[in-house]
Amino acid sequence: MSERRPLIAGNWKMFKTHLEATSLVQALGYKLPAREGVEVAICPPFTALRSAQLVKDTDNVHIELGAQDMYWEDEGAFTGQVSPTMLKSLGCKYVIIGHSERRQLFAETNETVNKKISSAMSHGLVPIFCCGETLEQREAGQMKDWLVSQVKSGLAGIEIDNGSQIVVAYEPIWAIGTGMTATPQDANDSCRVVRETLADLYGAELAESIRILYGGSVKPDNSIQLMIEPQIDGALVGGASLKADDFLRICNYKSAGM
Ligand code: 13P
Repeated sequence: MSERRPLIAGNWKMFKTHLEATSLVQALGYKLPAREGVEVAICPPFTALRSAQLVKDTDNVHIELGAQDMYWEDEGAFTGQVSPTMLKSLGCKYVIIGHSERRQLFAETNETVNKKISSAMSHGLVPIFCCGETLEQREAGQMKDWLVSQVKSGLAGIEIDNGSQIVVAYEPIWAIGTGMTATPQDANDSCRVVRETLADLYGAELAESIRILYGGSVKPDNSIQLMIEPQIDGALVGGASLKADDFLRICNYKSAGM
């Protein structure tokens, strides 16, 4: 039995206006009890963070807030960017870094991911550091080498003294938004590769304390099977985090038969 506290994080991507965000956080709040077991977080678009924060504080919703990206500088002439200081002041605990959509569509590189992780951690934000292979890489038997190099490049030169400072999300690109989920066994094997890489970098004890999430077409119907795998410590949920009922069913996977 793992001692790592599971984390279910919703990545809303570019969905929900600030008004829609208010309703969704309210709907989640009604049904999310204070819990010791599973930690729940949502990562709305920047424009909805303030609304989500207000509902969370007013209604005492047991949910953590995260952003979907950030720039690594504190402030400056960087049109369009958002800083870690801004996110901290909105009550964010988490920030997703290096999501494959940012890597593929917005020229995010291992180098920029590395700078963002370092900056987030130095501001006390917890990066949800994403990695994952394409279908071509998996079919060519390159999954392991790819994951090892992605994790090592993203974390190059970064010190971690405590497993709660970072979360890693393994998201195979072919499973994102496609309805194709990795089998629980495959997802577990890949998360093990990530953990072994973390052990190489930081030692086995620290690696054992870092949470590794699975992401890619997680739905209420498949979440239990994924979550019971020993190397999987939670989920990064896209589409299914946009509907309160679906997201709540995933968050409540423990009461659904485990
Ligand atoms: P889906 O759950 O929609 O496949 O998205 C996964 C994801 O990219 C979460 O970051």
